[in-house]
Amino acid sequence: MQIGSVTIPGNLTLAPMAAYTSWPFRRICRRFGAALVTTEVVKARELVRRMQATYDYIAFKPDEHPIAGQFMSGDPDEAAEATRVMNELGFDMVDLNLGCPKRRVIGDGLGGAMMEFPEKVEQVVAAMVKASRVPITVKMRAGRWKGEVTAVETARRCEAAGAAALCIHPRFSEGAAVAAPDWAVIAQVKQAVKIPVIGNGGIHIAADVQKMFSETGCDAVAIGQAAIGRPWIFRQAPALIATGLLPPPPADEEIRAILLEHYRGLVELHGERKGTVMMRKQSCHYSKVLANGKPFNLAVQKLSNVTDYMAAVEKYLGAPNAPGPA
Ligand SMILES: Cc1cc2nc3c(=O)[nH]c(=O)nc-3n(C[C@H](O)[C@H](O)[C@H](O)COP(=O)(O)O)c2cc1C
Repeated sequence: MQIGSVTIPGNLTLAPMAAYTSWPFRRICRRFGAALVTTEVVKARELVRRMQATYDYIAFKPDEHPIAGQFMSGDPDEAAEATRVMNELGFDMVDLNLGCPKRRVIGDGLGGAMMEFPEKVEQVVAAMVKASRVPITVKMRAGRWKGEVTAVETARRCEAAGAAALCIHPRFSEGAAVAAPDWAVIAQVKQAVKIPVIGNGGIHIAADVQKMFSETGCDAVAIGQAAIGRPWIFRQAPALIATGLLPPPPADEEIRAILLEHYRGLVELHGERKGTVMMRKQSCHYSKVLANGKPFNLAVQKLSNVTDYMAAVEKYLGAPNAPGPA
């Protein structure tokens, strides 16, 4: 897939998920075949103020390219400045978030609230395109209000403003989590624009990927929750499409190595205590596929230091000499 000047080496991407897709997980997904990764969303305002905490939050590693930096903004001037910052930071693309459904974000007129105002989106995207050396992309929902699809008009306007690709998560911003995504909206957007369209939402297993391609005609599929604790879905899905056979998940030994790499990364990124606490929910997901996962997961849910975590790995998952965080 080609997104503006950037070649994407495949048609499966990792959907950004706050508190899950920082660099330790993103680079694991890249290795399994995710062809494009994106940072968790930040506010353009924070980028423009060059807040160190925001920079730390969107930090990435050299082996993650191509990587998009994502922000939310409803103001063309602010979005232009934030785009310049993302360019300076070395992102391959800059992605505008029109999907965040959090109350406070919607209350500020940002994220998913922007789906109500396609004209405003067009102005913001045009300002970003003008300010950027790298392609601008947009991740959007079906619309703001249930039943009121604005994605098609918004997509057309984004294309007119110079956006290089779109990702469509076809749920509404209000009452977001409950309803199933409506893939027909992805198909409608695909028909409406010439730039690449990435479909997203409701991929549970590898077989769903083929279904989304054939039902929507999308150019790529973004996988979110189905990759948590199972990043090998990026290896399984293309193999299933190519051969009709689903490769088995990795052996426990390989999963353990992935889990430890993930843990090492979180400790490097957040420090021992926060990294170990953040690893709890990731451990819960990896545990679902590990033979001895249940007692391991129970054991790590209260831990907050490396010594105890590594002792639990040794006790439940074996590997006394497994390299943990320093
Ligand atoms: C915990 C969580 C955090 C998310 N954070 C973001 C985010 O920062 N930016 C964004 O564009 N989408 C975010 N999303 C939405 C996902 O990218 C994706 O659109 C949604 O989960 C549907 O895809 P899935 O069914 O494959 O998970 C988040 C979703 C979840 C579950």
